[in-house]
Amino acid sequence: MTEDIYVLGIETSCDETAASVVKNGKEIISNVVASQIESHKRFGGVVPEIASRHHVEQITLVIEEALTQAGMAPNELDAVAVTEGPGLVGALLVGVNAAKAFAFAHQLPLVGVHHIAGHIYANRLEQEMEFPLLALVISGGHTELVLMKEHGDFDVIGETRDDAAGEAYDKVARTLNLPYPGGPHIDRLAHESDGAIEFPRVWLEEGSYDFSFSGLKSSVLNYLHNAAQRGEEIPPEHIAAGFQNSVVEVVTAKAVRAAAQYKVRQVIAAGGVAANKGLRTSLTAAFDEKGIPFYIPPLALCTDNAAMIAAAGTVMFEKGIRGTMAMNGRPGMELASWT
Ligand code: KG4
Ligand code: ZN
Repeated sequence: MTEDIYVLGIETSCDETAASVVKNGKEIISNVVASQIESHKRFGGVVPEIASRHHVEQITLVIEEALTQAGMAPNELDAVAVTEGPGLVGALLVGVNAAKAFAFAHQLPLVGVHHIAGHIYANRLEQEMEFPLLALVISGGHTELVLMKEHGDFDVIGETRDDAAGEAYDKVARTLNLPYPGGPHIDRLAHESDGAIEFPRVWLEEGSYDFSFSGLKSSVLNYLHNAAQRGEEIPPEHIAAGFQNSVVEVVTAKAVRAAAQYKVRQVIAAGGVAANKGLRTSLTAAFDEKGIPFYIPPLALCTDNAAMIAAAGTVMFEKGIRGTMAMNGRPGMELASWT
């Protein structure tokens, strides 16, 4: 009989302070997330210094709560997994230092996890991953298509050349005077709308799996600016619907083409924008038609959490990957395969 593996995950790369205990990389035993959104709202975005300060205040409480909810003592754990990067440096440092202190105090192995690997492995908390696999990672900081031939093997076949999709959502929302984070508000308005402004689709060169959203964002801003100069009132929901249509059409088409080209057995979505209703509907319909299994984790696992970090960290731990007490937060960390 093989022993069960219990990993404590810690995530502080942006504006959520999170800790979680996961069993065998698949089963959530506890999952605690302290969100700072309310503190950043009035600034219209995440303020790094405020984020770091909140993480410092919350981290010990959140880790304790994750252990309490799991009903576990530190000596029952097998490892500590923490987001090493990418993210805000001051925010990452809080989690990395907490993880190092915890691992040192309880003599546990330490594993440093890439945030995007975490978003991808959130799916394993729901069902087993089948390879080759295509992951669409779409969040406030990332828009990537990642091909995986096996566990821990990451090949980024497409990425954004400028803004991440979530970033574009948040900026367009801001010009429409919607609260931060704006993604969910644009999504809601788009669904309520009875019309849509036609904005360009940015395909880039033939065959490219890369994305670009800053041109789309600029054309929305120009459209609003021109309308204002003419004294015209544009219903915000028509803007929201037009913008969302453009994002959804391009993302869906590229994901479907990549899945077909690489003959993948499974497609998964990850990241905050994967919560988008328009995108979920479009991707589900497109992959249904192609007969390719497609999954999106539940909302709470799409946005930042520590269960996904523990899930990815467990596979790294099983592969014998270990961090050291010299670990640092790495704001620009690249997604590298686990070898
Ligand atoms: O994954 P996440 O929580 O943080 C990052 O790692 O970036 O993603 C946050 C992003 C924000 O830009 C937010 O506006 C966007 O996800 N988002 C959405 C929706 N829900 C969250 N964007 C579009 N539609 C949504 N329903
Ligand atoms: Zn994230």
